[in-house]
Formats: sequence, structure tokens, C-alpha cells
Amino acid sequence: MKTYLVTGGAGFIGSNFVKYMLRQHENIRIVVLDALTYAGYLGTIDADIDNDRCTFVRGDICDRELVDSLFAQYRFDVVVNFAAESHVDRSIENPQLFLQTNILGTQNLLDCARRAWVNGKDAQGYPTWQDGVRYHQVSTDEVYGSLGPTGFFTEDTPLQPHSPYSASKTSADLVVMAYRDTYHMPVSITRCSNNYGPYHFPEKLIPLMINNVLEGKKLPVYGQGTNVRDWLYVEDHCKAIDLVVNEAADGSIYNVGGHNERQNIEIVRIIIRTIRRLMEERPEFRALLKRQDKDADGQIDISWINDDLITYVKDRLGHDQRYGIDPSRIKADLGWYPETTFEVGIEKTILWNLEHRDWVQAVSGSDYQTYYERMYAGR
Ligand code: NAD
Ligand code: TYD
Repeated sequence: MKTYLVTGGAGFIGSNFVKYMLRQHENIRIVVLDALTYAGYLGTIDADIDNDRCTFVRGDICDRELVDSLFAQYRFDVVVNFAAESHVDRSIENPQLFLQTNILGTQNLLDCARRAWVNGKDAQGYPTWQDGVRYHQVSTDEVYGSLGPTGFFTEDTPLQPHSPYSASKTSADLVVMAYRDTYHMPVSITRCSNNYGPYHFPEKLIPLMINNVLEGKKLPVYGQGTNVRDWLYVEDHCKAIDLVVNEAADGSIYNVGGHNERQNIEIVRIIIRTIRRLMEERPEFRALLKRQDKDADGQIDISWINDDLITYVKDRLGHDQRYGIDPSRIKADLGWYPETTFEVGIEKTILWNLEHRDWVQAVSGSDYQTYYERMYAGR
């Protein structure tokens, strides 16, 4: 029986990972450590917490005493670190918090794992490690910077981050590899592209656009909308992490994503079209719209759900133009590829958002409304 420490497990990808792992593996235990910042919501995983296979601890990954005590209590075999400040726009407003959580938090987890897992020294003085332990860092393709119209990120692409967020994630990756080189620590890193799917916090592009349509608000596209992201369905990502943690060699780095590149404007148009189609196919969804004007047939009108909702707003500072992943290494070594096409994934995601309005309401309280007004006012 392996025991996992999953940090950030009440956030978007972390919660999907917790659910995926509990479904896939009968013989594991998970302890979720999450500070429940604005981006973490316990309601996302409360049905999974049974205090037998899955336990929740509220706390900060930077808290050495707490993390040491969790290692002593649960004797973790694996750490999967999702905990982070994750939104580029917020990092432009408050860089220091990103450096604190993403770099020092990672370093604290590494140190606590080192104290718990080292069991001796080899002839050259390098630490030796308990069998079967692994520290896994969930990183991002944003560490590679921005691409022009051609080419892809491979694992050998030089690290060239631009935003405070991506600079902090890059620093964290370098610290992880420093522990590998200096202490021979068993580590791995995955660098994924933009995820989408259930439980996505509404500040990010895809859920923001879905929610704005339902609320009858404008759809704010930064700049010309020509920036390109390589979209990855979150469950495909969870599968990749499971494979890397359990099957890849110590010290491995894998890019996760690939061949799902879209301009932002295309994503927004697909969301508009898909919501409108779903409302035509299932008129009961129209009750979710804030705008309840009736059409000539007495049905709730949806004719306004069209591209006129799009508004081009001031661009993000230092906005990376294009991300695109070459996933050859993970495919060749572990047989992983992104199974979910964008057409399938986006419909599932929109349906999930239509069917889980209570979750969306719960995470978009007054703090989020204040953030939205501050971030988008005068843009
Ligand atoms: P998220 O913002 O939805 O969730 C982050 C979680 O971490 C939240 O539950 C939050 O409460 C928790 N957290 C924040 N600070 C903490 C701290 N100091 N101690 C403990 N918990 C803390 O993020 P996400 O989108 O799920 O991303 C998860 C990881 O994946 C991050 O490391 C992010 O950098 C990386 N990533 C995300 C994407 C993406 O598209 N979402 C893409 C590439 C990489
Ligand atoms: P985002 O979801 O914030 O992810 P990231 O910045 O990590 O890629 O943004 C995805 C893309 O969408 C990015 O190019 C910025 C753009 N975007 C908008 O055009 N409008 C928005 O309101 C948001 C949140 C993002």
C-alpha cells in the first residue's frame, strides 16, 4: 500500500488527480494538504474524504513543522506537488506571493521529504534513499517561454519564462533538479500545457467564458485573440502524472500535452456555438441563463448567444504568443498520448458547468466578484 501526499488537492487539477487515483488504484492512501486559498474549495473533494483512503489537512506547504509532522504520522511514499499560485494575471499584480508559495513552498516540501526519506550515505557521501519513494513536481510548459508560429517545446528547449508565475515555476523546477543533482533525490517533473475540464476555477479562460455567457456578460478577449494555447483535458493529464510517478525513471522530465493548439478567439467562438447548440437541444438549460427575455414563440430567447458577445480588451502585459508541446518523449517511453479530442473535451466541460451551477456559485463568491471587477474594469 502506497501513501501519497497530494498538495493542492482541493484545487482544479489536484482534485481531479485525487478522484482519478482513488478510482484507478484500490491499494493507495492519499493525504491532501491544501491551504484553501481562494482557488481551493473543500466541497470539491469532500465526498472523497473518508479518513481511510483519503484524508484532508488544511495547511501551508511552506510550514516546515506541519509538513514534518505529516511525514512522521503518515510515512509518505510519494509526494505530488500541485500546490501553487497558478494564475498569470494575479502574478502580474502580486509577484511576491508567487515566489513565496511556488519556490519556497517547493523547497520546503523537498527538505521535509529529504529528512524523512534519507536512510544513510553511499561511499561518495551522497545520501541513500528509502526504496520506492518519489517526489513529483507538477510544472508547466510556460517555463519554456513563448513560441513563434512554428516549432514545439521539447524537454530540451531552453527555459525562458516571462511572467512572474512562469519564472516562479521555472525556479521551482531548478530547485527540484538541484536536489536531484546534489542529494541524488528520487524526483520527477511533468510540464503540462493548459488544462481544462471539471472543477476549473472561473478566473481562467474557458470557465470564465462559459460563465459569462450564462450571466449574459461580455466575453473579454485579450489583445487580438490570436495567442495560441495547447489544450489538455485534465483527466488525460492525471493519467500522465500517474504513469510518470509510478513508471518513469528517477530524475525524469516529461512534457505532457500536444496537438490541441487553438487561438483564444477560436476557443471563445467554439464555446459560444456549443452553448447555443446545447440550449437548442435541451431547452431546460435555458433556465440557467440570467437573461430570461422571451422569443416570439414564448421560449427563453437565445438568439443573443452569438459572436457579438465578444469584446476585445487591453492585452495582458508580457503576453506569451504561443505554447505548443511535442509529446514524443512521453509517448515513446510510457505510451501516453492525449486521448480526449478538443471537440469531446469542450462539450463535456460545458455540460459539467451547466450541470454544476451550485459548485460555480460556491467558488465565485464576493472575493471573486471583487477580483473580476478590479481585473476587467477599464480594460
Ligand atoms: P489551482 O489554482 O486551481 O489550485 C491550486 C491549489 O493549491 C488550491 O487548492 C490552493 O488552495 C492550493 N494552495 C495554494 N497555495 C498553497 C500553499 N501555500 N499551501 C498549500 N496549498 C496551497 O491550480 P491548478 O490549475 O489546479 O494547478 C495545479 C498545478 O498545476 C500548479 O502547480 C500549476 O502551476 C500547474 N499547472 C497548471 C496548469 C493549468 O492549466 N491549470 C497548467 C500547467 C501547470
Ligand atoms: P489563462 O486561462 O489565464 O491561462 P494561461 O495564461 O496560463 O495560458 O489564459 C489562457 C489564454 O486566454 C491566455 O492567452 C490569456 C487569454 N485570456 C483572455 O483572452 N481573456 C481572459 O479573460 C482570460 C482569463 C484569458
